[in-house]
Amino acid sequence: MDASPDRIRIMSGDITGLAVDAIVNAANRSLLGGGGVDGAIHRAAGPELLEECRTLGGCETGQAKLTRGYRLPAGYIIHTVGPIWQGGDRDEPELLAACYRNSLQLAVEHDVRRIAFPAISCGVYRYPLSEAARIAVREIRHFLTGNAPIETVYLVCFDDEVRQAYEQALAGDRAG
Ligand code: APR
Repeated sequence: MDASPDRIRIMSGDITGLAVDAIVNAANRSLLGGGGVDGAIHRAAGPELLEECRTLGGCETGQAKLTRGYRLPAGYIIHTVGPIWQGGDRDEPELLAACYRNSLQLAVEHDVRRIAFPAISCGVYRYPLSEAARIAVREIRHFLTGNAPIETVYLVCFDDEVRQAYEQALAGDRAG
């Protein structure tokens, strides 16, 4: 399949309610929950999620680990740990790109066809939104061009500022 534009879709809302094969969590290295989307996912998935997370031994920045979705409509949760923005010269761009690549690779290994991402690192971790959105779209587009058997990647925006950043990034990516 080509990386036709409609395979990457921007949407607004709460990622926990999406009935897709997998949603991605912007976690921290402990994988034991937190605030933001991490907190929302743990609240919605229920306590069994934390029990499974405890067995994973944490996760390094840029890496991704998979659990079941439990009470979520999504079948799986892919937990990835984004970089904390520290000015941009601590490998933040490469680590953020790795979050998307490793999450998509894990999805393919589990026959995921539809996957939803929040704006990784764009909240508590303070990654500059426009640059994070550009990295997200570039990495997802590149991964899909490689004939990955993923049908649709949803970019879930929790507020309008994020949505605008993604729309600009997607437009820019299409312009080439
Ligand atoms: N659905 C979709 N997106 C959401 C939701 C939700 N329910 N809740 C928050 N978001 C958005 C935020 O508005 C932001 O755009 O997810 C994006 C990522 O923000 P954070 O959740 O703060 O994640 P991040 O910046 O990667 O920081 C991770 O925060 O919550 C802790 O445990 C987490 O320590 C980790 C750190």
